[in-house]
Amino acid sequence: MESLERDAMNDIRSAILQRFSCRTYLDEPLELPIVEALQALTKTVPAGPFGGTGRFVLLAASPGDGRELSSLGTYGFIQGANAYIGGIIADGEHCLEDFGWQMEWLVLRITAMGLGTCWLGGSFTRSTFAQKMNARIGEVLPAILSVGLMADEKSARAGLLRKRISADERLPISQLCFEGGFDTPLLPADEIEHEVLRMVRLGPSASNKQPWRIVRVGNLYHLYLQRTKGYSEGILQRFLGAEDLQRVDMGIAMCHFELTARQLGWEGSWQRQDPGLQLPNEYIRYTASWNLI
Ligand SMILES: Cc1cc2nc3c(=O)[nH]c(=O)nc-3n(C[C@H](O)[C@H](O)[C@H](O)COP(=O)(O)O)c2cc1C
Repeated sequence: MESLERDAMNDIRSAILQRFSCRTYLDEPLELPIVEALQALTKTVPAGPFGGTGRFVLLAASPGDGRELSSLGTYGFIQGANAYIGGIIADGEHCLEDFGWQMEWLVLRITAMGLGTCWLGGSFTRSTFAQKMNARIGEVLPAILSVGLMADEKSARAGLLRKRISADERLPISQLCFEGGFDTPLLPADEIEHEVLRMVRLGPSASNKQPWRIVRVGNLYHLYLQRTKGYSEGILQRFLGAEDLQRVDMGIAMCHFELTARQLGWEGSWQRQDPGLQLPNEYIRYTASWNLI
């Protein structure tokens, strides 16, 4: 299992291509070696791009008691899952981006193990998970992951919910990435640049809104959050207490960008270096820049 995981992670792009939101699992507890591998993973998550570190806890049903987790409640969106990973992070300016980066790092690792995952930022009972994870005052629980053996990959990929939100569709790179400013769509200069941007584009995002925008200026790739109007004040936010999931999406995009870039030899680091570009609307805001060296 370990070598399989390592081999697959050698190719981060395979994990990104393989990943999808799996909502139907084989309804049986995970075997002990898998549980142990997952537990080990949750303890080795690197810090997020702004230096924040969350606590990640595996909640797995024990053999003989597949119902143990049903009390945790996922509002019927998820079927057959016998394991979840909850994540908690100290509240702070960039905590949601750090959280998104870290949880997605886990998602890609777990995908490389051949397991299915689904991010859940709205459809779970936050208070029950917070209690199970001993959340403290000053900590937030932005999302959890369901984890498990895929029931049947083909039908899981073709699931109703995925169809309804056009989960396989993404905006074209020309609408997500720009050059010099927001007026000029970016034409990738070479294969590596194209591949890094392609991997960002394939990332998961809450309700598949794809709020990430990238502007290349010289050797800096500036990442922006294009908020979906009304999304953060929507039903999820108000009734379920969902954190700002679009900031979590930005962390996910930074994870895909960084891991692909590093794998393809594009060394660099994240910096806060707002170029002060003219913004196309009032819902967009600067997040961070990848400084390519
Ligand atoms: C931060 C975040 C929160 C999400 N919350 C939920 C959720 O509450 N329920 C759900 O069924 N899917 C949820 N998703 C999954 C998205 O709907 C999914 O990633 C998107 O539709 C793209 O589909 P794909 O992941 O299959 O590529 C969430 C994804 C992200 C990144």
